[in-house]
Amino acid sequence: MTSELPSITIKGTGSYAPQKVLTNDEISTFVDTSDEWIHSRSGIKERRVAAEDETTSDMAKKAGEAAMKAASLSPEDIDLVIVATITPDKPFPSTACLTQHKLGLPKAVSFDIEAACSGFLFALETGAALLRSGNYKRALVIGSEKMSSITDWTDRTTCVLFGDSAGAVVLEKGTIQGTGFLGANLSSDGASSDILHMPGGGSLIPASENSVATRQHFLKMKGREVFKFAVRAMEQSAVDILQQHNLTTKEIDCIIPHQANLRIIELLSSKLDLPMDKFFINLDRYGNTSAASIPLALDEAVRSKRIKSKDMILMLAFGGGLTWGSSLIRWP
Ligand code: UT7
Repeated sequence: MTSELPSITIKGTGSYAPQKVLTNDEISTFVDTSDEWIHSRSGIKERRVAAEDETTSDMAKKAGEAAMKAASLSPEDIDLVIVATITPDKPFPSTACLTQHKLGLPKAVSFDIEAACSGFLFALETGAALLRSGNYKRALVIGSEKMSSITDWTDRTTCVLFGDSAGAVVLEKGTIQGTGFLGANLSSDGASSDILHMPGGGSLIPASENSVATRQHFLKMKGREVFKFAVRAMEQSAVDILQQHNLTTKEIDCIIPHQANLRIIELLSSKLDLPMDKFFINLDRYGNTSAASIPLALDEAVRSKRIKSKDMILMLAFGGGLTWGSSLIRWP
């Protein structure tokens, strides 16, 4: 369906996870939970937590550097930096601008995208579309999150789930049709925005003594509702994108799902009739890293040789907004 458009090649991937590991047992020392509960309900064993002075742009820089190295590119080669995040260093300027500066990219146009945990897939589609516009040749697309900065560490229903990290890919406008980024199927619906959100810090509830005292600057979630939405949305998006590209599930070599909950992925596997060994999973070690989860998993899958040349990769995401979607990549 995109044969007349320039192809978009994946030139390299990279990722970064902070050193500090926070285990389920450690969390159970400060909230009423247990390793058994967390692992059986989510599949998560541990997550990484950024240092106090380590920001989202610091992590984005490290993931971006690794992706540029994998792509054998120098700073002058990058025309665009797009960072997907819900935990920017500051409300403005964008984390992408800060990342561009830290990476020393002299000519990259830089901006953020916010689509919560689906953000990386939204950023990838945006990067590909801008490359196809003809004005840019290479884009650094990054998902980076310091979820620990918006986690309410007194709320056991959310604090056990999230972690910090960053992942990145370099996209390049190419000529070989049928490889690289093949397309996306993205969706949004603001009607249920309150099942997963952070109420404070924007124009609705600006920061005040009261907003801090009532804990408005932390992520809030109705877990069961999000769970049901996640399975339904990712299943539909997978079915739609396969149909759009005339593919069957048998032609998919590897699925990179948003790494939120192993039970969500298991249900998806059974609904799509795709065996679990086709799903790449690393949420046991990182938890849910929001917009970073897919590029972090993609980079691990590439570096561990789980993804091989010519593999067809299906990426599936869902998140606050609500937002959800899928992307297809034929690995170069
Ligand atoms: O990127 C998008 C992010 N969001 C998600 O992916 C979240 C999707 N939802 C989920 O992953 C699951 O709904 C959770 C893991 C959040 C929760 O699992 P659940 O099986 O849906 O549990 P629940 O919310 O139905 O809670 C069951 C019980 C409750 O107690 P009662 O009411 O049955 O007495 C909770 O209070 O478990 C209790 N509970 C906990 N117990 C120990 C909730 N959190 C904890 C906890 N430790 N950390």
